[in-house]
Amino acid sequence: METTLIIFKPDAVQRGLMGQIMTRFENKGLKVVGAKLMQISQDLASTHYKDHQGKPFYDGLVGFMTSSPVMVLALQGNNAIAVCRKMMGATFGSNAESGTIRGDFGVSNSFNLIHGSDSPEAAEREIGLFFNDGEILSYDRAIEGWVYDMSGGEPE
Ligand code: RTP
Ligand code: MG
Repeated sequence: METTLIIFKPDAVQRGLMGQIMTRFENKGLKVVGAKLMQISQDLASTHYKDHQGKPFYDGLVGFMTSSPVMVLALQGNNAIAVCRKMMGATFGSNAESGTIRGDFGVSNSFNLIHGSDSPEAAEREIGLFFNDGEILSYDRAIEGWVYDMSGGEPE
């Protein structure tokens, strides 16, 4: 099972889309193991997006991410990182396929609603950045055996 970091960006919170986007992940069967509303500091935004430092869009990206509260989530599931990236859609709202979050809820390239970790290494790093000890919870869901086929011992 993987755990991935998802951020509902300032535009998603301001536009009142948190519930609708969260519903998609819940409907898919992903398990919410961490969630909080927070304001991202300049320091946290620059650490989180350190790989983009120096790129032309970097200052605008950090400005946007720190401009208003975000909701951060840790979502768990089989292949959760790839599953969530697929649900998010392409980076730019103008190209994102219909049926994806970015494709269905926005048209802007900069205000693209959502962030999701793009690799297991990024997920581990980002969960450590956004969540403190004790904020990622471990619990059983009563529906688990109907979300995954566990007959072979592994979730399928
Ligand atoms: P994210 O990190 O936010 O989940 O988005 P992503 O993986 O799909 O895209 P990434 O390449 O990591 O870029 C991070 C954010 O920077 C903005 N961006 N602007 N103008 C541009 O060419 C450009 N490229 C990227 C987007 O807001 C993107 O989400
Ligand atoms: Mg990225």
